[in-house]
Amino acid sequence: MTTHDVELIDIVKDFESGGKLVRAVDHVSVQIADGEFFALLGPSGCGKTTTLRLIAGFEQPIAGKVLIRGLAMEGIPAYHRPVNTVFQDYALFPHLTVEQNIMFGLQMEGVNKKEARKRASESLDMVRLPDVGARKPHQLSGGQQQRVALARALVKKPAVLLLDEPLGALDLKLRKNMQYELKALQRDVGITFIYVTHDQEEAITMADRIAVMNEGKMLQVGSPRQIYERPETVFVADFIGETNFIAGELLERGPDGFGRVKLPDDTVITAQLSGTLSRSSGPVRLAIRPERIGIATIVETEGEIIDPGEFTVLDALLIDSQYIGTDTRYTLRIGDATELVVRVQNISELDSSAIALGQPVTVYWHNSSTTVLDN
Ligand SMILES: Nc1ncnc2c1ncn2[C@@H]1O[C@H](COP(=O)(O)OP(=O)(O)OP(=O)(O)O)[C@@H](O)[C@H]1O
Ligand SMILES: [Mg+2]
Repeated sequence: MTTHDVELIDIVKDFESGGKLVRAVDHVSVQIADGEFFALLGPSGCGKTTTLRLIAGFEQPIAGKVLIRGLAMEGIPAYHRPVNTVFQDYALFPHLTVEQNIMFGLQMEGVNKKEARKRASESLDMVRLPDVGARKPHQLSGGQQQRVALARALVKKPAVLLLDEPLGALDLKLRKNMQYELKALQRDVGITFIYVTHDQEEAITMADRIAVMNEGKMLQVGSPRQIYERPETVFVADFIGETNFIAGELLERGPDGFGRVKLPDDTVITAQLSGTLSRSSGPVRLAIRPERIGIATIVETEGEIIDPGEFTVLDALLIDSQYIGTDTRYTLRIGDATELVVRVQNISELDSSAIALGQPVTVYWHNSSTTVLDN
C-alpha cells in the first residue's frame, strides 16, 4: 500500500529545439497525496505543462521515475494510465451532442451504450448541468463548455485528474465562480487534482498544496500559507503577492532563528531568518509584506506601547499615497534610498487621508514578519 497517489522521483526532461537542448523539467521530486488538490504554479515556460504530460504519459522522462498509486509508469501508454487530462482549450467535438461527447471515451473502451449513457448523465449531474445532454457545444456558454469538458474527464473515474489552466479561457467573474465550483466538486468526488495555473490567487484559494516552479525546477512545495508567509527564495517571495525587498548585511545569526541585519543606512535591526538561509553573515535580502507594516505619526507613537524587543521601529518619510478603495497603498522612504510599500486597510473613511505627503512618520513591524533570504 502507498499513501500517495502520484510520485515523481528525480524527473528530468529535455527537448531539442533548433539544435539546442532545452531542459523543461530539471530534477523534480514530489509526492502528491490521495485526494489532494495540488497546484503547479509558475511563470510561462517554467515546465508546468511538461510535468503534467510526463504524468499523463504523453512525454517520457530522460531520467527519473513516475509512480502512480505505487506503480512505475515506465512503458505504460497514456491510455492505460489511471489519469485523465482537462486541457485549456477543452476541444469538445463540435458535431456531437454534449452527451455523445461525454460517452465517446467510454464507448471507445467498449462500455455498452446503456451504461455509457447512465454514466454520462451522472457526470453531468456532478458538474451541475443535468439538462444539456442533447445540445451541441456551440449552444453552451464558455463556462458550460468547460464543465462539459470536466464531465467528460470525470466520467472515466480516473484516480487522478490533470488540469492544465482549465479556466484560462473564461472571463474573470466566471472564472471566480468556477474556482469555487471546481474546489467543491473536487472535495465531493475525492479525486486527486493536479492543477496547472500561472495565476497565484487561483492557486492560493484552491489548492491544499502549491509547488512553485521556475526554469524546470520545483523551488518550493507547501501549503498556500507556507508559500505566502514563509517563502524560501527571493523568486518565490517575489512571484507570490507583493513583497518589499531590502538589501541588508547579516551581522550575526542568533540561536532562536533571528539575526542582526544592517540596513543600507547602517541601522541595525533584528529579523527572522528563513529556515533555508545558507549563509551565516554577509549580503542578504530582507523580505516583508506591505500589509505587515504599520504606520504611525510621531505623536501617536508616543502613546503606543510597542515592545522594542519584539518590534522594529524606523523613521520614514511619506512620498506617495494611492487610494485603492479597500486599502491605501503608501510609498515611504527609510534611510536615503530604501523605498517601502505599506498597505493599510481603510477601516474608516478618514484613514486614507490621515497622513500628508512629505510628513515624517514612523513605520513598525513585528520582527517575525520579516524573512531574511539568501541574495
Ligand atoms: N515539444 C517541445 N519541443 C521543444 N521545446 C518544448 C516542447 N514543449 C515544451 N518545450 C519547452 O519546454 C519549456 C517548458 O514548457 P512548458 O510547456 O512545460 O511550460 P509551461 O510552464 O506550461 O508554460 P505556459 O504557462 O506558457 O503554458 C519551455 O521552454 C518550452 O519552450
Ligand atoms: Mg503550459
